[in-house]
Amino acid sequence: MSVTVQFITGGARFEEYRDPLAWALGTLGIDADLAEDHPPDTVDYIVYAPFDGQVDLSGYTRAKATLGLWAGVETIIANPTLTMPYARMVDAGLTQGMVEWVTGHVLRHHLGLDLDICRQDARWAYRVPPLASQRKVGLLGLGALGSACARALAGLGFEVAGWSRRPKALDCVICLAGETGLREVLARSEILVLLLPHTAATENILDAAALATLPQGAVVLNPGRGALVDDAALLAALDAGQIAHATLDTFRVEPLPETDPYWTHPKVTVTPHLASVTRPETAAAVIAENIRRGEAGEPFLHLVDRDAGY
Ligand SMILES: NC(=O)c1ccc[n+]([C@@H]2O[C@H](COP(=O)([O-])OP(=O)(O)OC[C@H]3O[C@@H](n4cnc5c(N)ncnc54)[C@H](OP(=O)(O)O)[C@@H]3O)[C@@H](O)[C@H]2O)c1
Repeated sequence: MSVTVQFITGGARFEEYRDPLAWALGTLGIDADLAEDHPPDTVDYIVYAPFDGQVDLSGYTRAKATLGLWAGVETIIANPTLTMPYARMVDAGLTQGMVEWVTGHVLRHHLGLDLDICRQDARWAYRVPPLASQRKVGLLGLGALGSACARALAGLGFEVAGWSRRPKALDCVICLAGETGLREVLARSEILVLLLPHTAATENILDAAALATLPQGAVVLNPGRGALVDDAALLAALDAGQIAHATLDTFRVEPLPETDPYWTHPKVTVTPHLASVTRPETAAAVIAENIRRGEAGEPFLHLVDRDAGY
């Protein structure tokens, strides 16, 4: 079996993925012609990460699917020329990266590590560190990433609650849905993690009312999407002491402009959208499996529901 695979990913990604993908396809018995310059009407599958903005895909008339390298989809599905099935990236490396970023930043705030790291002032200021079982963590979003983070945090002993669109059941995690469920998760979350996609329904979900529902002195982590947060409301809540700290990895405008108040706010930590990245070693296997499925006439994994917007 032989397939033609077009990379639309920006030059460096092709070099990173060519050999791992050829190898992964080979293990499935699939020969592939991988390139960045196939004539569009000869292409069977597109590997996609449009770093340079929207791409006109209308010439890819025989492509069976576009296979994304990113987990987030809001800019991609806004492309009117993306008419074939679109599968987003769900891969073990991406998930593990997010689990490590989230647990690391939760532990920073839970243990008050800044006190130890920043105050080396020759004072033997003994304090009893809290236990995870005394800390309530909430996650908005219990998908591929949110559920893995919820499990990891519950495994450390945190009291974890999560919120999703459809009801869910996860061991050792209080799973809630709907408007009431949202308020319940917010009201109990001393540390709140946003792992929702950006859709019309989730835009500004962390607005002034939601921030006021959190316990006073709560911490917010946003590795989801910048547009989930009403920035002016968050800055006001930080200044008022309602929110003790925000650790933000995603922003409405990226890179975050130099003049953005988040950079200099004493209660904000900015990380440059690095919470989790797609790793060629693990992602190549996901793409290869979807190509195998396409060739076998089986349903693709991780297809995006364009009506739901994620
Ligand atoms: N910072 C980074 O480096 C980075 C890296 C990767 C991804 N991300 C972000 O993380 C997001 C989540 O990724 P994922 O792979 O976990 O996505 P996912 O598997 O699609 O999960 C999304 C979760 O959000 C829930 N949700 C969506 N709309 C909702 C609504 N209106 N109300 C309540 N819950 C809603 C879904 O509910 P259901 O379970 O009911 O569908 C699901 O639990 C991505 O969309 C992306 O924006 C960031």
